[in-house]
Amino acid sequence: MRTHYPVVIVGAGPAGLLLSHLLHLQGIESIVLESRTRAAVESTIRAGVLEQGTMDILNETGVGERMRREGALHHGIELAFGGQRHRIALTELTGRAITVYAQHEVIKDLIAAREAVQGDILFDVSDVSVHDIDSTKPSVQFTVDGQVRRLTCDFIAGCDGFHGVCRPAMPASVRKEYQRVYPFGWFGVLVEAPPSSDELIYAAHERGFALISTRSPTVQRMYFQCDPSERAETWSDERIWQELHMRTESDDGWRLKEGPIFQKSVIAMRSFVATPMQYGRLFLAGDSAHIVPPTGAKGMNQAVADVWRLARALDDFFHRDNEAGLHGYSEAALKRIWRAEHFSYWMTRMMHRLDDATPFEQQMQRSELEYVVSSRAASLMLAENYVGLPLA
Ligand code: FAD
Ligand code: DHB
Repeated sequence: MRTHYPVVIVGAGPAGLLLSHLLHLQGIESIVLESRTRAAVESTIRAGVLEQGTMDILNETGVGERMRREGALHHGIELAFGGQRHRIALTELTGRAITVYAQHEVIKDLIAAREAVQGDILFDVSDVSVHDIDSTKPSVQFTVDGQVRRLTCDFIAGCDGFHGVCRPAMPASVRKEYQRVYPFGWFGVLVEAPPSSDELIYAAHERGFALISTRSPTVQRMYFQCDPSERAETWSDERIWQELHMRTESDDGWRLKEGPIFQKSVIAMRSFVATPMQYGRLFLAGDSAHIVPPTGAKGMNQAVADVWRLARALDDFFHRDNEAGLHGYSEAALKRIWRAEHFSYWMTRMMHRLDDATPFEQQMQRSELEYVVSSRAASLMLAENYVGLPLA
């Protein structure tokens, strides 16, 4: 049994799987260790919006075929408030677009691509721990099929999400964490119904935020702002529809199309950044290092941007004897992350009902919304962040 890999990747989310795929294309071997089962990884409902840069990476690396076929390419989004809908013409403003394609479909495509070349992924592992990260021979220990195993490697990629073990393995003395926890969450539903709108609708309403997204011609994804401690199963379909209708109603008589709700969940909202994203031979990528509230649709896209950068840096290390990319990884990745953090925070503050807002602050919120939809400069600011700034 093999005991050494150039790169051991912890976590088979979008970050870990895409990193192993990119490394494979560069001729660098890796193994992915995942604590959940393959079925769980392939069915967890999460993000849905792929930025232009994410689409480009999936296409250029041969895993975009199903996304192009089954995903929906969108050239605009709508902001709804005060009974009216306003279009932000993403492509007209930026030359770029987004695709609505569920994260777990990306995951399935990446696992299939790794399988096709006999890439190593171990699901259902437990007790993962990382060792000797400040040496040139780190190792990862874990249990699989009841057996304790240890792999040595040159690098460890911590792609194990917010609750993973990699970030806490970095000494507390070198870490700095920045956080904001929002006093609201999102109630998310999947609905069997035709689309209500050609484009995503982000609605700001006195009762709170709502978002109308899509998954396919027959399945729709919708969210509305709720108390983060809300228990999804206690909400009847009728009550959910009432909330969604009220928050999205518009003066032109447009109405949301209803259908059976087959999935309900409540998502907590947080902004979080851990710095640095590297210590010794351990590199963090994706949610293990940073979290955004979902309003800007940035979470998965940031994970993709991180591993794109990390794969290039590892390629330089292994094939060009150049460590500059690895040394600069954390600083460069964090620059992009802070931009996404600000955008997500800004969208969240602008679109949600803020219970602690004074009447003055409520007027500021409304004025900002009106400016964003009426000024080309302000619309462009939203659009270029939403479609994603170019990877560099
Ligand atoms: P993850 O997808 O979290 O993957 C980490 C993987 O590591 C998981 O598979 C996990 O099982 C595994 N793992 C964890 N610990 C260990 C361990 N000790 N050993 C081995 N494996 C481990 N973003 C949006 O833009 N829009 C949304 O609507 C949206 N909804 C979300 C809903 C939820 C409930 C959550 C949690 C996130 C949501 N996000 C959303 C964010 C987006 O899905 C994430 O940013 C994205 O999944 C990040 O990818 P990742 O690979 O970094 O982390
Ligand atoms: C979806 C999720 C988001 O967070 C968002 O901003 C837009 C769409 C979605 O799941 O479709």
